[in-house]
Amino acid sequence: MQNSPRKAVTVPALLDMKRHGEKIAMITAYDATFAAIVDAAGVDVILVGDSVATVIQGESNTLPVSMEEMAYHVRLVKKASPKALIVGDLPFGSYQVNVAQAVENSVRLVKAGAQAVKLEGGTTVAHAIRAIADADIPVMGHIGLTPQSVHRMGGHKIQGRNEGFEAGGRQRLLEDAHAVEQAGAFAVVMEGIPAPLAAEITEKLSIPTIGIGAGVHCDGQVLVLHDILGLSERELTFTKKFADLRSTSIAACSDYVAEVRAGSWPDEAHSFR
Ligand code: KIV
Repeated sequence: MQNSPRKAVTVPALLDMKRHGEKIAMITAYDATFAAIVDAAGVDVILVGDSVATVIQGESNTLPVSMEEMAYHVRLVKKASPKALIVGDLPFGSYQVNVAQAVENSVRLVKAGAQAVKLEGGTTVAHAIRAIADADIPVMGHIGLTPQSVHRMGGHKIQGRNEGFEAGGRQRLLEDAHAVEQAGAFAVVMEGIPAPLAAEITEKLSIPTIGIGAGVHCDGQVLVLHDILGLSERELTFTKKFADLRSTSIAACSDYVAEVRAGSWPDEAHSFR
């Protein structure tokens, strides 16, 4: 019997996965080639993350990437026609000014091919989440270690270790999680928080939680593709190299350089007569 073709992943399907206790797998991608690869691997959600700034553009944090650049990368991922749900990240400065700006920029990402958008923050961005959701655009929240808040946090620091309602405090993170759900988000990324706190939030929310550096008890997990493939040099506790493509790529390119220098490339089989 032939395998039935994979169905396109939808927002309601992700909510069903939480209800049925099925784990959600999300990976970032920024172009058509890699989007096709992660989709062939059966991922549920492709996140066109603002991590494109560090992974592709060589920036030291995610702040510089623009709205135009995010829309461009969403368009490239869409070209792969993935079955996975495409989530486009709203970059820093594209939703903080007012809710009209947040809705307008979400519309731009949807027109570029995103089926949902993601933004960072909890109680302070609940009004933006509400406005975008009211425009019928599914919104994914992102709480905890939110890289766009790097200057407020004083670095990329684990959040929720201390008690309190101040930004980054344990009680505040519980409030943030509820605020995001109440505002109408369909899922929430939890980044860089203690595993027991992530488990508690996951238990309390009816929307899926997607963890990165938040332990195994989230409803799903997300990693940056270049970390999974071992393409980036960074080594973080909460990422894992599932392959070492950096070494493989350097070896392949070195072989090519050596053959060019030796005059053995191209050989007869790769030449025309
Ligand atoms: O931009 C990104 O890649 C992200 C994930 C790390 C969640 O926001």
